[in-house]
Order: sequence, then C-alpha cells, then structure tokens
Amino acid sequence: MTPARPTPAPPPPVPLRTERLELRYLRDADADELLRYYGRADTTRYLLDGPWDAAKARDEVGRRQGRLHITAAGFAVCLVVVEPDAQGGRAVVGDITLWAVDDSLSLGEISWVFDPAAGGRGLANEAARAVLDLAFGHYGMHRVRVRMDARNAASARLCERLGFRREGLLRQDWLIKEEWTDTLVYGMLAPEWPGAAAVEGPPPAQAGPR
Ligand SMILES: CC(C)(COP(=O)(O)OP(=O)(O)OC[C@H]1O[C@@H](n2cnc3c(N)ncnc32)[C@H](O)[C@@H]1OP(=O)(O)O)[C@@H](O)C(=O)NCCC(=O)NCCS
Repeated sequence: MTPARPTPAPPPPVPLRTERLELRYLRDADADELLRYYGRADTTRYLLDGPWDAAKARDEVGRRQGRLHITAAGFAVCLVVVEPDAQGGRAVVGDITLWAVDDSLSLGEISWVFDPAAGGRGLANEAARAVLDLAFGHYGMHRVRVRMDARNAASARLCERLGFRREGLLRQDWLIKEEWTDTLVYGMLAPEWPGAAAVEGPPPAQAGPR
C-alpha cells in the first residue's frame, strides 16, 4: 500500500512547458478567452454547467486564480493552456485542472476543456501529459482518475490515448442539465505512467523462483 504523503509538495513549477504549449496560471484577461469556448453549447454539453455568460466567465476566472497549489483535500491547480499565435502572441486553447480527491493528497482527478477551434491536433493530449507529470512526478500521486459523462466520446478517447484504463460505469449518478446521466470512470496508477519511474523508485528486488 502506498502511504499517505506526510508533507505537501513544494509549489508546482508553473508555467509548465511542452513542445507546442505553455500551461500557466489564470489572469483576469483570460475571462474573454475562456468565454469563447465555455460560451458554446457544444463544448459544455457534458459539463455540469454552461454555456457561460460573461459574468460567469469573470467569476470562474476569479475563483480559479486562487487555485495554485495542492496542499489539502479539494485543493487544485488550475491552468490555462496557451499556444503561440500567428501574430507572435499567445492564444488560450484550453484549460486543465488537477485536484486532490482526499486528505492523503495521493489521489488526484483531472478535468480538461478545450476550444473546439483548436481540436483535432493533439493539443489536449500534449497538455494532459504535462499535467500527469505534475500529478505523478511533482506531487507523487498514487492514482489519478478522470470522470466523465458516458456519452463524452472525445474525452474517453483522450483518456485511452493517454493510457488510462477504463474502470467502470456508474449508472445515472450525475444530474447534468436536468438529466440523470451515467458516469464513465478512467484511472491511472503511478507505475502505469511512463514518466513516473523515477518518482516511484526502482522496481522491487526480483523474488526467487516460487
Ligand atoms: C475532451 C477534449 C478535451 C478532447 O479534445 P481533442 O482535441 O479531441 O483531444 P486530443 O488533443 O487528444 O486530440 C485528438 C485528435 O487530434 C488528432 N491528432 C492530431 N495530431 C495529434 C498528435 N500529435 N497527438 C495526438 N493526437 C493528434 C488525433 O488523431 C485526434 O483526432 P480524432 O478526434 O479525430 O480522433 C475536447 O473534446 C473537449 O474539450 N470537450 C469539451 C469539454 C469536455 O467535455 N471535457 C471533458 C470533461 S471530463
């Protein structure tokens, strides 16, 4: 059994950088960027709330600006994913949140929402890998899960491409937009994440033949 973490990890090394992307903390000015995709019914179809309006975007961005580090159950790291644009600036293409499910800080959950205009290029995949590195590498988590509306095929495909295992289907356990919906649960354990070998330590000594 993996013991509970005795002390919280140091603050995460944000911004995270990948080949094409930067994952950084939210700023006030991101409200308009997030509204661009959270304002769409197709993007929020399987989310608990949405589409957002401008006031909701400001509230959410304000709330998420305080989610910087995981030091207790329910605490989260909220990041926007930005990509260089043609004008030499950076455009927000999505956002990802990692939070601790309980006091052990060893059980994490991830959620992701990306602008459909940036879809189909593997950007969510690339950003999620950086966040899995954060979960298993920086925070030393033991397990990360993703829960989604069972009809959310794009999110399920993303989990499978990342190497999550499909673990179960909970029947009608979420009320999404006034409809009881089934939830798909995907999970990944630390040894299943390729980047986690150094964090988990060497494999146990080879046992003799039984
Ligand atoms: C779930 C979601 C983030 C997935 O986004 P996505 O863009 O499909 O995910 P990926 O980054 O993995 O991109 C995958 C697509 O890019 C293609 N692709 C192109 N280049 C790629 C690359 N270098 N690496 C990986 N995939 C690549 C893949 O073939 C795939 O195409 P397909 O969808 O036709 O199979 C997005 O659909 C979303 O934001 N949905 C709305 C919000 C939501 O429901 N969130 C989930 C809450 S649990």
